[in-house]
Amino acid sequence: MNILTLPGDGIGPEVTAEAVRVLREADRRFGLGVQVGEALIGGAAIDAHGKPLPDETLAAARAADAILLGAVGGPRWDNLERALRPEKGLLGIRSALGLFANLRPAILYPQLADASTLKPEVVAGLDILIVRELTGGIYFGEPRGIRTLDNGERQGFNTDVYSESEIRRIGRLAFELARKRGRRVCSVDKANVLEVTVLWREVMEQLATDYPDVELSHMYVDNAAMQLVRAPRQFDVMVTGNLFGDILSDAAAMLTGSIGMLPSASLDASGKGMYEPVHGSAPDIAGQGKANPLAAVLSVAMMLRYTFGHARAADAIEAAVGQVLDAGLRTGDIMTPGCRQVDTRGMGEALCAALRGD
Ligand code: IPM
Ligand code: MG
Repeated sequence: MNILTLPGDGIGPEVTAEAVRVLREADRRFGLGVQVGEALIGGAAIDAHGKPLPDETLAAARAADAILLGAVGGPRWDNLERALRPEKGLLGIRSALGLFANLRPAILYPQLADASTLKPEVVAGLDILIVRELTGGIYFGEPRGIRTLDNGERQGFNTDVYSESEIRRIGRLAFELARKRGRRVCSVDKANVLEVTVLWREVMEQLATDYPDVELSHMYVDNAAMQLVRAPRQFDVMVTGNLFGDILSDAAAMLTGSIGMLPSASLDASGKGMYEPVHGSAPDIAGQGKANPLAAVLSVAMMLRYTFGHARAADAIEAAVGQVLDAGLRTGDIMTPGCRQVDTRGMGEALCAALRGD
Protein backbone atom coordinates (compact mmCIF):
# COMPACT_ATOMS: atom_id res chain seq x y z
CA MET A 1 0.00 0.00 0.00
CA ASN A 2 1.79 3.05 -1.33
CA ILE A 3 0.25 5.97 0.58
CA LEU A 4 1.10 9.64 0.18
CA THR A 5 0.35 12.00 3.05
CA LEU A 6 -0.27 15.67 2.42
CA PRO A 7 -0.45 17.15 5.94
CA GLY A 8 -1.00 20.73 4.72
CA ASP A 9 -1.68 23.59 7.11
CA GLY A 10 -3.03 24.47 10.55
CA ILE A 11 -4.12 21.36 12.43
CA GLY A 12 -3.54 19.25 9.28
CA PRO A 13 -0.07 18.00 10.31
CA GLU A 14 -1.21 17.15 13.86
CA VAL A 15 -4.22 15.10 12.85
CA THR A 16 -2.37 13.45 9.97
CA ALA A 17 0.41 12.35 12.35
CA GLU A 18 -2.11 10.56 14.58
CA ALA A 19 -3.86 9.00 11.60
CA VAL A 20 -0.50 7.65 10.39
CA ARG A 21 0.28 6.38 13.90
CA VAL A 22 -2.98 4.41 13.84
CA LEU A 23 -2.33 3.22 10.28
CA ARG A 24 1.08 1.86 11.30
CA GLU A 25 -0.49 0.07 14.25
CA ALA A 26 -3.06 -1.48 11.91
CA ASP A 27 -0.17 -2.43 9.61
CA ARG A 28 1.53 -4.28 12.49
CA ARG A 29 -1.64 -6.11 13.33
CA PHE A 30 -2.83 -7.01 9.83
CA GLY A 31 0.44 -7.02 7.85
CA LEU A 32 -0.85 -4.47 5.36
CA GLY A 33 2.55 -3.64 3.85
CA VAL A 34 2.15 0.09 4.24
CA GLN A 35 4.64 2.54 2.67
CA VAL A 36 4.07 6.15 3.68
CA GLY A 37 5.50 9.14 1.80
CA GLU A 38 4.90 12.83 2.40
CA ALA A 39 4.62 15.94 0.21
CA LEU A 40 3.62 19.57 0.50
CA ILE A 41 0.29 21.15 -0.38
CA GLY A 42 -1.54 24.38 0.40
CA GLY A 43 0.09 27.12 2.42
CA ALA A 44 3.02 24.89 3.35
CA ALA A 45 3.76 24.45 -0.36
CA ILE A 46 3.32 28.16 -1.03
CA ASP A 47 5.91 28.96 1.64
CA ALA A 48 8.40 26.41 0.26
CA HIS A 49 7.78 26.59 -3.52
CA GLY A 50 5.60 29.63 -4.17
CA LYS A 51 2.60 27.58 -5.29
CA PRO A 52 -0.10 25.56 -3.56
CA LEU A 53 0.24 22.41 -5.70
CA PRO A 54 3.88 21.91 -6.75
CA ASP A 55 4.54 19.60 -9.73
CA GLU A 56 6.42 17.14 -7.54
CA THR A 57 3.43 16.86 -5.20
CA LEU A 58 1.12 16.13 -8.12
CA ALA A 59 3.58 13.57 -9.51
CA ALA A 60 3.83 11.83 -6.12
CA ALA A 61 0.02 11.87 -5.85
CA ARG A 62 -0.32 10.26 -9.27
CA ALA A 63 2.18 7.57 -8.32
CA ALA A 64 0.50 6.73 -4.99
CA ASP A 65 -2.31 4.20 -4.53
CA ALA A 66 -4.07 6.48 -2.08
CA ILE A 67 -3.58 9.91 -0.53
CA LEU A 68 -4.23 11.08 3.00
CA LEU A 69 -4.72 14.83 3.22
CA GLY A 70 -4.83 16.91 6.42
CA ALA A 71 -6.23 20.36 5.72
CA VAL A 72 -5.25 23.48 3.80
CA GLY A 73 -5.54 27.21 4.31
CA GLY A 74 -5.15 29.88 6.94
CA PRO A 75 -5.22 33.63 7.41
CA ARG A 76 -1.54 33.95 6.51
CA TRP A 77 -2.30 33.20 2.87
CA ASP A 78 -5.72 34.86 2.59
CA ASN A 79 -4.46 37.97 0.86
CA LEU A 80 -2.73 36.18 -1.99
CA GLU A 81 -4.39 36.27 -5.39
CA ARG A 82 -6.93 33.50 -5.84
CA ALA A 83 -4.78 31.30 -8.12
CA LEU A 84 -2.08 31.14 -5.44
CA ARG A 85 -4.27 30.44 -2.43
CA PRO A 86 -3.95 27.19 -0.46
CA GLU A 87 -7.51 26.14 -1.42
CA LYS A 88 -6.41 26.16 -5.03
CA GLY A 89 -4.03 23.31 -4.21
CA LEU A 90 -6.89 21.19 -2.92
CA LEU A 91 -9.19 22.01 -5.83
CA GLY A 92 -6.29 21.45 -8.24
CA ILE A 93 -5.45 17.98 -6.98
CA ARG A 94 -9.12 16.91 -6.94
CA SER A 95 -9.46 18.04 -10.53
CA ALA A 96 -6.08 16.76 -11.80
CA LEU A 97 -6.69 13.28 -10.38
CA GLY A 98 -10.32 13.18 -11.55
CA LEU A 99 -11.63 12.61 -8.01
CA PHE A 100 -15.24 13.27 -8.96
CA ALA A 101 -16.96 11.37 -6.16
CA ASN A 102 -16.83 12.74 -2.64
CA LEU A 103 -18.28 10.44 0.01
CA ARG A 104 -19.06 12.16 3.29
CA PRO A 105 -20.69 9.86 5.83
CA ALA A 106 -22.33 11.49 8.84
CA ILE A 107 -22.69 8.88 11.53
CA LEU A 108 -23.61 9.62 15.11
CA TYR A 109 -21.60 7.60 17.57
CA PRO A 110 -24.12 6.83 20.33
CA GLN A 111 -21.51 7.91 22.89
CA LEU A 112 -21.65 11.46 21.43
CA ALA A 113 -25.41 11.99 21.38
CA ASP A 114 -24.99 14.67 24.05
CA ALA A 115 -22.24 16.48 22.17
CA SER A 116 -24.56 17.41 19.30
CA THR A 117 -26.25 20.80 19.49
CA LEU A 118 -29.44 19.00 18.46
CA LYS A 119 -31.60 17.05 20.89
CA PRO A 120 -30.34 13.47 21.36
CA GLU A 121 -33.69 12.02 20.23
CA VAL A 122 -33.39 13.89 16.92
CA VAL A 123 -29.91 12.61 16.09
CA ALA A 124 -29.84 9.18 17.77
CA GLY A 125 -29.04 6.48 15.23
CA LEU A 126 -28.11 8.97 12.52
CA ASP A 127 -26.38 7.36 9.53
CA ILE A 128 -26.34 9.50 6.39
CA LEU A 129 -24.03 9.27 3.40
CA ILE A 130 -23.65 12.47 1.42
CA VAL A 131 -22.37 11.84 -2.10
CA ARG A 132 -21.05 15.15 -3.41
CA GLU A 133 -19.94 15.71 -7.01
CA LEU A 134 -16.45 17.12 -6.62
CA THR A 135 -14.88 18.11 -9.94
CA GLY A 136 -17.66 20.02 -11.69
CA GLY A 137 -20.44 22.51 -11.11
CA ILE A 138 -19.92 26.11 -10.14
CA TYR A 139 -16.55 25.32 -8.52
CA PHE A 140 -14.96 24.72 -11.90
CA GLY A 141 -17.42 26.20 -14.42
CA GLU A 142 -16.21 28.70 -17.00
CA PRO A 143 -16.52 31.58 -17.63
CA ARG A 144 -15.68 32.93 -14.23
CA GLY A 145 -14.02 36.01 -12.86
CA ILE A 146 -14.44 39.62 -11.86
CA ARG A 147 -14.84 42.05 -14.75
CA THR A 148 -15.29 45.80 -15.06
CA LEU A 149 -18.46 46.93 -16.81
CA ASP A 150 -18.67 49.91 -19.20
CA ASN A 151 -20.00 52.08 -16.39
CA GLY A 152 -16.87 51.31 -14.36
CA GLU A 153 -18.63 49.08 -11.87
CA ARG A 154 -17.08 45.68 -11.15
CA GLN A 155 -19.10 42.49 -11.56
CA GLY A 156 -18.29 39.02 -10.23
CA PHE A 157 -19.54 35.97 -12.13
CA ASN A 158 -19.40 32.18 -12.07
CA THR A 159 -20.99 29.42 -14.12
CA ASP A 160 -22.83 26.42 -12.76
CA VAL A 161 -22.55 23.69 -15.36
CA TYR A 162 -23.09 19.91 -15.43
CA SER A 163 -23.09 17.65 -18.46
CA GLU A 164 -25.27 14.53 -18.56
CA SER A 165 -22.25 12.23 -18.28
CA GLU A 166 -21.00 14.03 -15.17
CA ILE A 167 -24.42 13.72 -13.53
CA ARG A 168 -24.78 10.11 -14.60
CA ARG A 169 -21.47 8.90 -13.13
CA ILE A 170 -22.07 10.47 -9.69
CA GLY A 171 -25.72 9.39 -9.74
CA ARG A 172 -24.80 5.81 -10.60
CA LEU A 173 -22.35 5.66 -7.70
CA ALA A 174 -25.00 7.00 -5.31
CA PHE A 175 -27.44 4.28 -6.40
CA GLU A 176 -24.76 1.59 -6.10
CA LEU A 177 -23.84 2.76 -2.59
CA ALA A 178 -27.52 2.92 -1.58
CA ARG A 179 -27.81 -0.76 -2.52
CA LYS A 180 -25.28 -1.57 0.19
CA ARG A 181 -27.20 0.48 2.77
CA GLY A 182 -30.83 1.55 3.18
CA ARG A 183 -31.71 1.52 -0.57
CA ARG A 184 -32.89 5.12 -0.57
CA VAL A 185 -31.39 8.00 -2.56
CA CYS A 186 -32.44 11.62 -2.09
CA SER A 187 -31.18 13.81 -4.92
CA VAL A 188 -30.81 17.43 -3.86
CA ASP A 189 -31.22 20.21 -6.43
CA LYS A 190 -32.71 23.62 -7.06
CA ALA A 191 -34.78 22.59 -10.06
CA ASN A 192 -37.39 25.26 -9.32
CA VAL A 193 -34.84 27.93 -10.29
CA LEU A 194 -31.69 26.54 -11.93
CA GLU A 195 -31.71 24.82 -15.35
CA VAL A 196 -28.48 23.00 -14.54
CA THR A 197 -30.37 21.15 -11.84
CA VAL A 198 -33.46 20.61 -14.02
CA LEU A 199 -31.15 18.45 -16.11
CA TRP A 200 -29.67 16.93 -12.94
CA ARG A 201 -33.15 15.82 -11.85
CA GLU A 202 -33.97 14.39 -15.30
CA VAL A 203 -30.79 12.31 -15.39
CA MET A 204 -31.42 11.00 -11.86
CA GLU A 205 -34.94 9.94 -12.96
CA GLN A 206 -33.49 8.09 -15.97
CA LEU A 207 -30.92 6.32 -13.80
CA ALA A 208 -33.57 5.25 -11.33
CA THR A 209 -35.08 2.93 -13.93
CA ASP A 210 -31.87 0.85 -13.71
CA TYR A 211 -32.31 0.57 -9.93
CA PRO A 212 -35.90 -0.51 -9.27
CA ASP A 213 -34.79 -1.79 -5.87
CA VAL A 214 -33.67 1.69 -4.77
CA GLU A 215 -36.16 4.42 -3.90
CA LEU A 216 -35.33 7.80 -5.44
CA SER A 217 -36.69 11.07 -4.07
CA HIS A 218 -35.88 14.69 -4.90
CA MET A 219 -35.56 17.66 -2.60
CA TYR A 220 -34.80 21.33 -3.14
CA VAL A 221 -31.60 22.32 -1.41
CA ASP A 222 -33.21 24.91 0.87
CA ASN A 223 -35.67 22.33 2.12
CA ALA A 224 -32.88 19.76 2.44
CA ALA A 225 -30.95 22.15 4.70
CA MET A 226 -34.05 22.54 6.85
CA GLN A 227 -34.83 18.81 6.91
CA LEU A 228 -31.25 18.02 7.94
CA VAL A 229 -31.70 19.91 11.17
CA ARG A 230 -35.40 19.09 11.61
CA ALA A 231 -35.51 15.32 11.04
CA PRO A 232 -32.13 14.12 9.75
CA ARG A 233 -32.83 10.41 10.15
CA GLN A 234 -35.18 10.51 7.15
CA PHE A 235 -32.08 10.42 4.91
CA ASP A 236 -30.03 7.45 3.77
CA VAL A 237 -27.91 8.50 0.75
CA MET A 238 -28.04 12.13 -0.40
CA VAL A 239 -26.54 12.93 -3.81
CA THR A 240 -25.91 16.47 -4.94
CA GLY A 241 -23.65 18.84 -6.85
CA ASN A 242 -20.41 20.38 -5.71
CA LEU A 243 -21.62 23.58 -4.03
CA PHE A 244 -24.74 22.17 -2.37
CA GLY A 245 -22.70 19.20 -1.18
CA ASP A 246 -20.10 21.48 0.37
CA ILE A 247 -22.75 23.30 2.37
CA LEU A 248 -24.96 20.36 3.34
CA SER A 249 -22.01 18.25 4.47
CA ASP A 250 -20.95 20.90 6.97
CA ALA A 251 -24.49 21.00 8.31
CA ALA A 252 -24.63 17.20 8.50
CA ALA A 253 -21.28 17.19 10.28
CA MET A 254 -22.64 19.23 13.13
CA LEU A 255 -25.45 16.73 13.68
CA THR A 256 -22.81 14.23 14.74
CA GLY A 257 -21.56 16.43 17.55
CA SER A 258 -18.48 17.85 15.92
CA ILE A 259 -17.05 18.38 12.48
CA GLY A 260 -13.96 16.86 14.09
CA MET A 261 -15.59 13.44 13.68
CA LEU A 262 -16.21 13.38 9.94
CA PRO A 263 -14.02 11.55 7.42
CA SER A 264 -14.36 11.70 3.66
CA ALA A 265 -13.26 9.85 0.56
CA SER A 266 -12.75 11.41 -2.87
CA LEU A 267 -12.66 8.69 -5.52
CA ASP A 268 -11.85 8.52 -9.20
CA ALA A 269 -13.47 6.19 -11.69
CA SER A 270 -11.19 3.30 -10.73
CA GLY A 271 -11.49 3.61 -6.94
CA LYS A 272 -8.18 5.35 -6.35
CA GLY A 273 -8.80 7.93 -3.71
CA MET A 274 -7.83 10.86 -1.62
CA TYR A 275 -9.01 10.70 1.96
CA GLU A 276 -9.42 13.73 4.17
CA PRO A 277 -11.21 14.93 7.26
CA VAL A 278 -14.15 17.19 6.37
CA HIS A 279 -12.93 19.82 8.85
CA GLY A 280 -10.63 22.62 7.79
CA SER A 281 -7.24 23.77 9.05
CA ALA A 282 -8.65 25.46 12.20
CA PRO A 283 -5.75 27.95 12.49
CA ASP A 284 -7.10 29.19 15.84
CA ILE A 285 -6.18 25.93 17.58
CA ALA A 286 -3.26 24.81 15.40
CA GLY A 287 -0.14 23.54 17.15
CA GLN A 288 -1.79 23.32 20.56
CA GLY A 289 -2.68 19.62 20.64
CA LYS A 290 -6.38 20.49 20.83
CA ALA A 291 -7.45 19.11 17.46
CA ASN A 292 -9.63 16.02 17.24
CA PRO A 293 -7.77 13.44 15.11
CA LEU A 294 -10.77 11.11 14.79
CA ALA A 295 -11.91 12.48 11.41
CA ALA A 296 -8.42 11.84 10.00
CA VAL A 297 -8.25 8.40 11.62
CA LEU A 298 -11.67 7.48 10.25
CA SER A 299 -10.47 8.71 6.85
CA VAL A 300 -7.73 6.07 7.06
CA ALA A 301 -10.43 3.47 7.76
CA MET A 302 -12.29 4.63 4.64
CA MET A 303 -9.05 4.34 2.66
CA LEU A 304 -8.53 0.75 3.77
CA ARG A 305 -12.12 -0.05 2.89
CA TYR A 306 -12.56 1.71 -0.45
CA THR A 307 -9.14 1.78 -2.10
CA PHE A 308 -7.57 -1.33 -0.61
CA GLY A 309 -10.67 -3.43 0.02
CA HIS A 310 -9.37 -4.38 3.47
CA ALA A 311 -12.64 -4.40 5.41
CA ARG A 312 -11.16 -6.17 8.45
CA ALA A 313 -8.55 -3.49 9.11
CA ALA A 314 -11.13 -0.75 8.46
CA ASP A 315 -13.58 -2.38 10.87
CA ALA A 316 -10.85 -2.71 13.50
CA ILE A 317 -10.00 1.00 13.33
CA GLU A 318 -13.66 1.97 13.54
CA ALA A 319 -14.12 -0.38 16.47
CA ALA A 320 -11.09 1.18 18.21
CA VAL A 321 -12.75 4.60 17.84
CA GLY A 322 -15.89 3.18 19.47
CA GLN A 323 -13.81 1.74 22.29
CA VAL A 324 -11.98 4.94 23.18
CA LEU A 325 -15.27 6.83 23.12
CA ASP A 326 -16.80 4.15 25.34
CA ALA A 327 -13.86 4.64 27.70
CA GLY A 328 -14.86 8.30 27.97
CA LEU A 329 -11.85 9.82 26.20
CA ARG A 330 -12.66 13.10 24.44
CA THR A 331 -10.87 15.93 22.72
CA GLY A 332 -12.14 19.39 23.63
CA ASP A 333 -14.61 19.69 20.74
CA ILE A 334 -16.62 16.65 21.92
CA MET A 335 -16.03 17.02 25.64
CA THR A 336 -19.06 16.55 27.89
CA PRO A 337 -19.27 16.35 31.70
CA GLY A 338 -18.04 13.07 33.16
CA CYS A 339 -15.60 12.37 30.34
CA ARG A 340 -11.81 12.65 30.34
CA GLN A 341 -10.22 15.25 28.07
CA VAL A 342 -7.16 14.18 26.10
CA ASP A 343 -5.01 15.99 23.57
CA THR A 344 -4.54 15.09 19.92
CA ARG A 345 -1.67 12.72 20.57
CA GLY A 346 -3.34 11.19 23.61
CA MET A 347 -6.29 10.26 21.43
CA GLY A 348 -3.98 8.70 18.81
CA GLU A 349 -2.12 6.67 21.41
CA ALA A 350 -5.35 5.47 23.01
CA LEU A 351 -6.54 4.27 19.61
CA CYS A 352 -3.29 2.35 19.06
CA ALA A 353 -3.66 0.72 22.47
CA ALA A 354 -7.23 -0.27 21.59
CA LEU A 355 -6.02 -1.73 18.27
CA ARG A 356 -3.35 -3.75 20.07
CA GLY A 357 -6.03 -4.96 22.46
CA ASP A 358 -4.16 -3.52 25.47
C1 IPM B 1 -14.38 21.15 1.64
C2 IPM B 1 -13.77 22.51 1.76
C3 IPM B 1 -13.21 22.92 0.41
C4 IPM B 1 -14.37 22.97 -0.57
C5 IPM B 1 -12.42 24.26 0.40
C6 IPM B 1 -11.30 24.26 1.41
C7 IPM B 1 -11.91 24.60 -0.97
O1 IPM B 1 -14.70 23.42 2.24
O2 IPM B 1 -13.64 20.20 1.30
O3 IPM B 1 -15.56 21.01 1.91
O4 IPM B 1 -15.06 23.99 -0.66
O5 IPM B 1 -14.58 21.97 -1.25
MG1 MG C 1 -16.53 22.53 2.86
